[in-house]
Amino acid sequence: MANLADPHLLYQKSVQSPDHDIPFLAGYFEEYTKQPLRYFREDFCGTALLSSYFVTQHPDNHALGIDLDWPTLNWGIKHNGSLLTLDQQRRLTLVNDNVLHVHHPLSQLTVAMNFSYMVFRDRPTLLQYFTNAKRSLQPGGLFVLDIWGGSETQVEQEEHRDIDNSDDDGIGDFVFVWDQDVFEPSTYFCRTRIHFIFRDGSELRDAFVYDWRLWTIPEVMELMKEAGFADVHLLWEGLDPDTHEGTGTYHRAEKGDSDPSWIAYVIGQNPK
Ligand SMILES: C[S@@+](CC[C@H](N)C(=O)[O-])C[C@H]1O[C@@H](n2cnc3c(N)ncnc32)[C@H](O)[C@@H]1O
Repeated sequence: MANLADPHLLYQKSVQSPDHDIPFLAGYFEEYTKQPLRYFREDFCGTALLSSYFVTQHPDNHALGIDLDWPTLNWGIKHNGSLLTLDQQRRLTLVNDNVLHVHHPLSQLTVAMNFSYMVFRDRPTLLQYFTNAKRSLQPGGLFVLDIWGGSETQVEQEEHRDIDNSDDDGIGDFVFVWDQDVFEPSTYFCRTRIHFIFRDGSELRDAFVYDWRLWTIPEVMELMKEAGFADVHLLWEGLDPDTHEGTGTYHRAEKGDSDPSWIAYVIGQNPK
């Protein structure tokens, strides 16, 4: 099964949900700006799953996806872009380039999901990225990134998660493994790996490997302000008072809870 499996497909099934993410992101944008979202930019788009979904949601929706890795982007064109109608394809632009170097067309909302900006491991480069993200937005536009932290993110450990897969692809259900292989306290360098384990016991090791810096919320918020973003703020997950589990819904907050592993969103606005 490990030989049969397609790592990009397994990745999409494990960590991406455009039918949840796009309504959440567009809903937040529309509530915040009181404008419909029609121009969406997905930095580090990988297989462009979010962008491909966005253009299906309204006949005037346009998406720009940018990724440095041609084989990944090309997989997205073949497997996600090809499912779109000709009109939807016309409204989807995919660019094989560095996110630091793409400034146009201006978007209303730019997102950097699944912690991809952590690839920039020093302050000058992250500031350069945020500065470019700001200048690539329309006046009043929003920039949203997700951030991951908590004490468990600094522990070298593996987390296994069962993934339901009802597709008729010969793979069936599988296990997604998030391997926090290295955490280096002096630099906050972290290396994370993704492996997959299948029903027949076979494994796809190191399907994806990320060399990242584990940035903290205050560092990211300070750099976004330095880049010129206004109203830099945080969305934190709600907590169910009975189960003490996350509710899966995010709200603007000044403070978070000291959870051992959390995901939050940091948002800034390009001044009008
Ligand atoms: C963790 S994956 C994220 C994919 C997708 N955005 C998601 O949410 O799952 C990171 C992606 O960033 C791309 N990448 C890394 N550095 C980049 C850069 N400087 N400019 C554009 N893309 C980059 C990689 O090729 C990879 O596809």
